[in-house]
Amino acid sequence: MSNNSFKVSDDKLGKTASFPLLEGTLGHPTVDIQNLNRDMGCFTYDPGFTSTASCKSDITYINGDEGILLYRGYPIDQLAEHSNFLEVAYLLMNGELPSKAEYEKFESEITWYSKIHEKLRGFIEGFHYDAHPMAMMVGVVGSLSAFYHSELDVNDPEHRRISALRMLAKMPIIAAACYKHSIGDPFVYPRADLGYCKNFLNMMFARPSERFFIDEREYLNPAAARALDLLFILHADHEQNASTSTVRLASSTGANPYACIAAGIAALWGPAHGGANEAVLSMLAEIGDIKRVPEFIKRAKDKDDPFRLMGFGHRVYKNFDPRATIIRRTCHELLEKQASKDPLFELALGLEEVALKDSYFIERKLYPNVDFYSGIIYKALNIPVDMFTVMFTIARTAGWVSHWLELMADPSKRIGRPRQLYTGKPRRDYIATDRRG
Ligand code: ACO
Repeated sequence: MSNNSFKVSDDKLGKTASFPLLEGTLGHPTVDIQNLNRDMGCFTYDPGFTSTASCKSDITYINGDEGILLYRGYPIDQLAEHSNFLEVAYLLMNGELPSKAEYEKFESEITWYSKIHEKLRGFIEGFHYDAHPMAMMVGVVGSLSAFYHSELDVNDPEHRRISALRMLAKMPIIAAACYKHSIGDPFVYPRADLGYCKNFLNMMFARPSERFFIDEREYLNPAAARALDLLFILHADHEQNASTSTVRLASSTGANPYACIAAGIAALWGPAHGGANEAVLSMLAEIGDIKRVPEFIKRAKDKDDPFRLMGFGHRVYKNFDPRATIIRRTCHELLEKQASKDPLFELALGLEEVALKDSYFIERKLYPNVDFYSGIIYKALNIPVDMFTVMFTIARTAGWVSHWLELMADPSKRIGRPRQLYTGKPRRDYIATDRRG
């Protein structure tokens, strides 16, 4: 990093000061304002952090204008084409792609930790059958902190590595168990012979009591496993998004990592973030017919109507989302193999076509994001709609644990503690009355 300086001068404050201008490997220079309050006697105001870098990170780089997404320097399209989710998770966590021996060790460690304590099932079974699976994920993943607490030393790198592996390994088991609970099916135990994605599909769709009637080749087919693997790669990390920033903020206090990941899951759940894929399918179902597209486009543009086109727009990508380009292609490939076209995909393509020609969306640089299409693929894989954000959770765990590992190893880390612009009442005196009787 080369250091230049950034000068700030203000007549009202009567002060002038210089701040280091930091240059990263790629991207905009960043003004280091850590001493702004000390030197100028003021804070910065940046709701939604649109201009604020909250940390230094080596993990993921995004250029929103050019539609670039790099994991540890590797372009997302190259990883999507040649890699697999576990290799990408290793890359995110460790900084380099694994050698063959490193990959085999990593995979066998993930398989080793692919089990849950029988008592954890009690937490899952405690939920009402119609609980939203994301509500269950927040609670159950948070409860892992009670299982791994007393011997966990977050200052020990090996403890941290094992905690990260555990989270990556257990997330699909908990996700599938939540689904099985919601449909009243018995829990399906993980299988060591299947690999990460097929194991998840098996835990979701196997019905041991009906194994003579259901052909496991239907839900364990290689195309389904590959599509799932691809979605997991695309969703694995996205630098300082809302859920990752939540994980980092919670972790900055030294809190139990499983509880920090549960906080990330809570942040991911919202429709403005990971809940968008579920919201897209609900929206497409509500539109129902291509003839109704203009009516919904009109509503999306109406400032008095809270309706937004779900799956459109992104805080960072302002020309195209590179993940959406890859996923759109996969949608075509997967759905072309199906006997009949999914009408929702046809509807999504129609909606996209109309929106992309509309000046409202063009002027505001609103394009389909990754989640405009991910739900359609999940639907083709028979994943129920309320499990879509849970799928995102499994994938994003790779990113969350990588950021947690990075933060915990950073000697300069400090507790996250934003300031505020106070707009409440000025100081006033309490006047005693006899209203309390
Ligand atoms: N439909 C209609 N109008 C929109 C949409 C949309 N989906 N998104 C943004 N706009 C409009 C806003 O009303 C605003 O218009 P204005 O300038 O006339 O007031 C303008 O575009 C800018 O929007 P902001 O809300 O300021 O953009 P921001 O960067 O804060 O929000 C967000 C980004 C949250 C993704 C937003 O585009 C949105 O709500 N999209 C729909 C939800 C969605 O798909 N979320 C998934 C994000 S990707 C992910 O998490 C994996």
